[in-house]
Amino acid sequence: MTESAIDWEALTAEAVAAMRTAYAPYSGFPVGVAGLVDDGRVVSGCNVENVSYGVGLCAECGMVSELARTGGGRLVAVACVNAEGEPLMPCGRCRQLIVEHGGPGCLLRTPTGVLPMSEVLPQAFGPEDIEHVTGESATH
Ligand code: THU
Repeated sequence: MTESAIDWEALTAEAVAAMRTAYAPYSGFPVGVAGLVDDGRVVSGCNVENVSYGVGLCAECGMVSELARTGGGRLVAVACVNAEGEPLMPCGRCRQLIVEHGGPGCLLRTPTGVLPMSEVLPQAFGPEDIEHVTGESATH
């Protein structure tokens, strides 16, 4: 999908709404994210922290969980925001989550503009890296 075909303001508004539901008492840093799916659905998530700090969930975890739970599909555009509603770069692990469910062409609204995931996570580890060694499909 081309950048101009996406209603980035609406997608960002969904991310802001998700951010307002965040459970972030330890960091005080609420995050929200929303993704447009290839069938037109919008899925979203917020960060959910834990007193055992390392097991806290990033907002993107909730988004991909909702994606799977509501029928799957491919992410075509993603907007992640901070408490100010400004674009936020997903952490490294969450870039991998977005690539898994959107591929290198999925678009991300970043602080420096809309970029494809191929630029946000260059040379991403993917199923082909496993298949290259095993000679079998990495997915079942
Ligand atoms: N956080 C996210 O939810 N997504 C990201 O991509 C970056 C970080 C959350 C994790 C933690 O709850 C808070 O932001 C501060 O790191």
